[in-house]
Amino acid sequence: MNLKNFGFYEGGIFESILSTYNLDGTPNAAPMGVSLEKDHIIVRPFKRTRTFKNLKNFKCCVINFLDQVEFFYYTVYKDKALPENWFERAKRVNAPKLTMANLWIETEVKDMEDITEDRAKFLLDIKDIDFKWLKPKVYQRSHHALMESIIHSTRVKVYLKKKDYDKVKELINLINHYHLLIKKVSPNTEYERIMEDILKKIKGWIKIYNYPFTQP
Ligand SMILES: Cc1cc2nc3c(=O)[nH]c(=O)nc-3n(C[C@H](O)[C@H](O)[C@H](O)COP(=O)(O)O)c2cc1C
Repeated sequence: MNLKNFGFYEGGIFESILSTYNLDGTPNAAPMGVSLEKDHIIVRPFKRTRTFKNLKNFKCCVINFLDQVEFFYYTVYKDKALPENWFERAKRVNAPKLTMANLWIETEVKDMEDITEDRAKFLLDIKDIDFKWLKPKVYQRSHHALMESIIHSTRVKVYLKKKDYDKVKELINLINHYHLLIKKVSPNTEYERIMEDILKKIKGWIKIYNYPFTQP
């Protein structure tokens, strides 16, 4: 099976949820952008992440692709422990896979190098590819709006710590814009609840890091 059949191309970044085992044997999952380099997949985790530690230790992972954007939120913040019944053991590598995904790429680490002091690059060998056929699903603007808001939210804290308030303002404005859009096209849904949760998180960080403005 060729990854290009699923829409991969060299030079693109594809948003996955990467699953690994923790040292204590429990499953972990975290959103990670991946890319294609010839026959290999590249992932660039920060060294502070559990994903980095697990990849270094077990030298394998499953790259899960799924359309349900809410799982990117649950797995990026892990406000609640991830339920074990979301996972099952992969076929070919010592890693868990997410049962609700629709494309699974089982991989082993071939090589690792430092990109910077705090970020690494792993070159992954593909050991197995599996997928399931899906019922057609209608497209909503809120899918993209929620994904962008989740990604922007992870950067708000980083820029607050650096006191880069122009960047913080820009990200909060974008999130507020997507919040209004989601309220309009997906009212009273889990998407709207997640957006409110994100704004609540940002309000908390703003207090902790003494943000000198009144937003959001
Ligand atoms: C869409 C998306 C893509 C992400 N890509 C990366 C990435 O390439 N590298 C990284 O270190 N973190 C990335 N993150 C942030 C991690 O998912 C986040 O730090 C997470 O909490 C790490 O979890 P872990 O400690 O369980 O590994 C991404 C987040 C999102 C929402």
